[in-house]
Amino acid sequence: MTRRTLQIAPSILAADFGCLGDQVMQAQAGGADMIHIDVMDGRFVPNITMGPLVVQAVARVARIPLDVHLMIIEPERYINQFADSGASAITVHVETCPHLHRALTQINEAGCRAGVALNPHTPATAIREVLELVSQINVMTVNPGFGGQPFIRATTRKISQLRRMALDGGHDLDIEVDGGVNSQTIATARACGANIMVAGSCIFGHADGIAAGIAALRRAAASS
Ligand code: DX5
Ligand code: ZN
Repeated sequence: MTRRTLQIAPSILAADFGCLGDQVMQAQAGGADMIHIDVMDGRFVPNITMGPLVVQAVARVARIPLDVHLMIIEPERYINQFADSGASAITVHVETCPHLHRALTQINEAGCRAGVALNPHTPATAIREVLELVSQINVMTVNPGFGGQPFIRATTRKISQLRRMALDGGHDLDIEVDGGVNSQTIATARACGANIMVAGSCIFGHADGIAAGIAALRRAAASS
């Protein structure tokens, strides 16, 4: 099992939007490796969140990469706009892309790392034929749409399958887990082969502050 470097990606979905710039800077100073930005359209998922304007605003203060997760239908229509707004990585959902190969190519041509996300019910095999285009896989460990949901344990089998599939195909890529990641669940995800840990509520909602939330996750991951 590969051990790619552990990276913590705070999801600003759980941040205080009244002082978003300050929250992003606190996450950065607290050792975040990237900022995860959840874009929702009220169609693919029930919730509506943020768009390119917010990505631009975060890009003005962040000195670490912006990891943009598109939970929107027809994401191809917006890929270039998010790339121009400062995204480093853009992730599309396999469930929203009948032409997934084309969408991932578009992300690469826009100069971003291409990511593909799988809902909890979507099998690992759905992305086998596009792995060469992908820099990162997002394994949804909750049903997308909201922060603060419990980690779905059944998805851990898929993390291991994807890591094995990538290794067998010679693909050196990142696997991120997204949803319900906290001090109780991070070690399992790490042990299965995930290396980018997206976390919202347990970082921005930590009683001792954002930096303490990140530190607690790193400690818990190290125990795997
Ligand atoms: C869910 C989003 C996640 C979410 C994670 O649709 O993709 O990034 O913010 O939040 P927590 O860590 O609270 O589960
Ligand atoms: Zn996300």
